[in-house]
Amino acid sequence: MLTGIEKIKERKQSGPPLAVLTAYDYPTARLLDEAGVDLLLVGDSLGMVVLGLPDTTGVTMADMLHHTRAVARAKTRAPVIGDLPYHAYDTPQEALKNARLLMEAGADAVKLEGGVSMIPQVRAIVGAGIPFVGHIGMLPQSVVEEGGYKKKGRTEEAARLLMEDAIALDEAGACAIVLESMMPEVAAAITRRICACTIGIGAGTETDGQVLVTPDLLGSFPWFRPPFAKPHADVAAETLRAVREYVAEVQA
Ligand code: KIV
Repeated sequence: MLTGIEKIKERKQSGPPLAVLTAYDYPTARLLDEAGVDLLLVGDSLGMVVLGLPDTTGVTMADMLHHTRAVARAKTRAPVIGDLPYHAYDTPQEALKNARLLMEAGADAVKLEGGVSMIPQVRAIVGAGIPFVGHIGMLPQSVVEEGGYKKKGRTEEAARLLMEDAIALDEAGACAIVLESMMPEVAAAITRRICACTIGIGAGTETDGQVLVTPDLLGSFPWFRPPFAKPHADVAAETLRAVREYVAEVQA
């Protein structure tokens, strides 16, 4: 069992693979923890699956602090990773200031999107003793600039650049790196090459762990579901059933 974020790298050798899920509120965090997840991510995916925004670029530091505090109140066994939202880490100084705020809100580690271009920000965070998680591949905060969600690492050159990003983050002290929506063979090669644990999402099975957006797992956000996410429940259907039953009972 993982007891602290500092233990995360041990799982690369010892296994089992890391089971990671997102949480945005107190009851979900408690339930996921009780069910045995290894890490909880307060992801900025909350913009879409909780706040009803079209993408993650509208999520603010105030949103992230509010939801990180709610998850931290659950006092989970699983360490909590707080996401730095869009434009919260444009400079190393801003990155460090906002990383500290997330830690004060109860996070055990912080995550930001990007590789080589973000190394000064990563060094500022890690240099202050804040555990850091990287995120490369398809970057949701770049979706507007890139004109959509596209799988990464399709060409040799693209795969080489992803490897460079992963090595740079690893050498800068990341304890884990999320590999999002990339060719499985690229994710597997990165996993073999670096010391940090890789946590895949839409990146095949040969990573040190997997992460999912919890509403995709539970089927509680039926309006959009990424192709790689296999729902294990249909919470939307069960909610509709229960609420219709309640409405009928009250109106009978
Ligand atoms: O914001 C988020 O939920 C994430 C996951 C998709 C990894 O970054």
